[in-house]
Amino acid sequence: MNDKIFVTGAAGQLGQLVIKHLLARGVTPDRILAGTRNPEKLADLAAAGIEVRRADFEDLHGLTEAFSGAGTVLIISTDALDGADTRLKQHRQAVSAAVSAKVKRLAYTSLPNPDSSRLTFAPDHLGTEQAIKATGLPYAIFRNGWYQENLLRALPHALEHGQWYSAAEGGRISYVAREDIAEAIAVALANPATESRTYTFTGSEALTTQDIARLASQATGKPLTVAHVSDEAFAAGLKAAGVPEIFVSVLVSAEAETRAGNLSLVTDHVEALTGHASRGLAEYFREARSALVG
Ligand SMILES: NC(=O)c1ccc[n+]([C@@H]2O[C@H](COP(=O)([O-])OP(=O)(O)OC[C@H]3O[C@@H](n4cnc5c(N)ncnc54)[C@H](OP(=O)(O)O)[C@@H]3O)[C@@H](O)[C@H]2O)c1
Repeated sequence: MNDKIFVTGAAGQLGQLVIKHLLARGVTPDRILAGTRNPEKLADLAAAGIEVRRADFEDLHGLTEAFSGAGTVLIISTDALDGADTRLKQHRQAVSAAVSAKVKRLAYTSLPNPDSSRLTFAPDHLGTEQAIKATGLPYAIFRNGWYQENLLRALPHALEHGQWYSAAEGGRISYVAREDIAEAIAVALANPATESRTYTFTGSEALTTQDIARLASQATGKPLTVAHVSDEAFAAGLKAAGVPEIFVSVLVSAEAETRAGNLSLVTDHVEALTGHASRGLAEYFREARSALVG
């Protein structure tokens, strides 16, 4: 299969890594189309022979033109978390544009268990999966677990103070490296299955907050205890730290999701595609040590 692979959100962190791994897996630059709202950010890809096109999910007409000639379109979910249904509308526009542009296959970055998830933004992902399935086109849905990199938001502060507030109780979570997800997506895009597939990309182990604190402590040499608090106290702490209201509700819902065990799934889908196991959290913390200690 030699048709073109369109990657939306190509200037984002995941988008850049997907393109890096497509190239590493032998997909030639002339088969890759990089879509972004800001083509000027991707001059390096253009210099490497990759066609960069302007692609904004808010612009249906421009998006349809951008997708023309693509065989597969990877729709990378956007970061429009505003508490309204902006993101779902954006994704639906992307699906409509891909259908109008007569692409052959769709791919999308979702999240684990979108139908039973407590995460505030899960309906965006469920709705997008439904929109993709309703097209009748073959699809690959990539349900991405929680990035290991998300831990850099809370852990440096927690390590500085020796205490990590959590409302997840004993809930386990299987953090996965963004890079492993990108590599697995690239392999699946480069070698599309003949049938539609849904993958769930997770880490290789599901850990409690206590386990994660221990690993962070071992990697940095700093003591870290977990303070278990209620959702209300967790939210109050985030607000006091200046976290915007919209992200407070997102983060509280993530604690509830972890507590309920919905993020504890461990699959072998990364390994099955890439040929290597998901990077463990201990290894990530060793690599990210300087960012953890600030
Ligand atoms: N699994 C997790 O733990 C986790 C964590 C954070 C986010 N996510 C989700 O995964 C996605 C990719 O992660 P990331 O790390 O690459 O995030 P990121 O670096 O923040 O990138 C945000 C992405 O959203 C795209 N975007 C925003 N508005 C858009 C629009 N109007 N039209 C088209 N694209 C738009 C950006 O594309 P351009 O800038 O190239 O236009 C960019 O690819 C995020 O956007 C979010 O939906 C998952």
